[in-house]
Amino acid sequence: MDIREKIEQLKQEKDAVILAHYYVAPEVQAIADYVGDSFYLSKLAAGLPNKILVFCGVSFMGESGKLLSPDKTVLMPDRDADCPMAHMVVQETVQEARKAYEDLAVVCYVNSTAEIKSWADVCVTSSNAVQIVKNLPNEHILFIPDKNLARHVAQQVPEKHIIISDGYCPVHENMKAAEIKEQKALHPQAKVLAHPECNPQVLGLADHIGSTSGIIGYAAESGEKEFIIATEEGVLYELQNKCPEASFYFAETRPVCEGMKRITLEGIAHVLKTGENEVCVEDVYAAPAGDTLKRMLELASEKGRS
Ligand code: 13P
Ligand code: SF4
Repeated sequence: MDIREKIEQLKQEKDAVILAHYYVAPEVQAIADYVGDSFYLSKLAAGLPNKILVFCGVSFMGESGKLLSPDKTVLMPDRDADCPMAHMVVQETVQEARKAYEDLAVVCYVNSTAEIKSWADVCVTSSNAVQIVKNLPNEHILFIPDKNLARHVAQQVPEKHIIISDGYCPVHENMKAAEIKEQKALHPQAKVLAHPECNPQVLGLADHIGSTSGIIGYAAESGEKEFIIATEEGVLYELQNKCPEASFYFAETRPVCEGMKRITLEGIAHVLKTGENEVCVEDVYAAPAGDTLKRMLELASEKGRS
């Protein structure tokens, strides 16, 4: 029996379902039951009937799954698959902003630990951040931890005062605008599609800024045939599935998320077999962090992706 058959058999035996982010390796996306962006995966986790959810992504994704489905067993194929940005804010930043502004809303990007979420009022993902911030009644917003997404939101919602903290995604922050320009010179017709975690120089070159599913949706629906993709290379698998005729180009320094690439078929089979790497959230954070995610799902329920 090959590893794919083994995973299938274990899934049936254990009543498990596999959820994967667009950044994991193609062979993992291929065997997953559901593949999507962070928002889609959170929505799904809240409503799936299976006993076990295997989260193929980085740890904040598994944690969000557990927060939204506390009665389920959530397994991570690799316990060290982490997102550095998820830790990049300290509680004093939140405490000081709350002291400074009475009507402050603390908006927390989903790429954060459960502890950090527990300090916030609402979570957002890159697909709903603009809509949710726009619709909050508060004028003053502290946006944690991603400075690039925060800046993008501030540009889209100029009527609000957005306080920007200083976290970032190393993969998107380090992308070089000069390398995107090189691709543009080689492929002048290509549309530049960028994730809002990219630095401002790269975002300044974008024809479209969106979440991973927003980027894939834009490529599929635009009718264009050439695209320069400014996000992690894992999206290429779904881009090619959805747009087999189109050409996709990346910066010469390929953006690769080390945490996402730790997820393997062997890891999935192992946790399904053993039940190891179960996600547990400390009691003190579980209820407040879960509330911020539930508030996001409520506020985003009637919004489209961006
Ligand atoms: P999406 O929510 O767009 O899938 O992004 C998640 C992420 O980690 C981007 O780096
Ligand atoms: Fe985190 Fe960046 Fe990896 Fe996304 S690509 S999971 S933000 S390190």
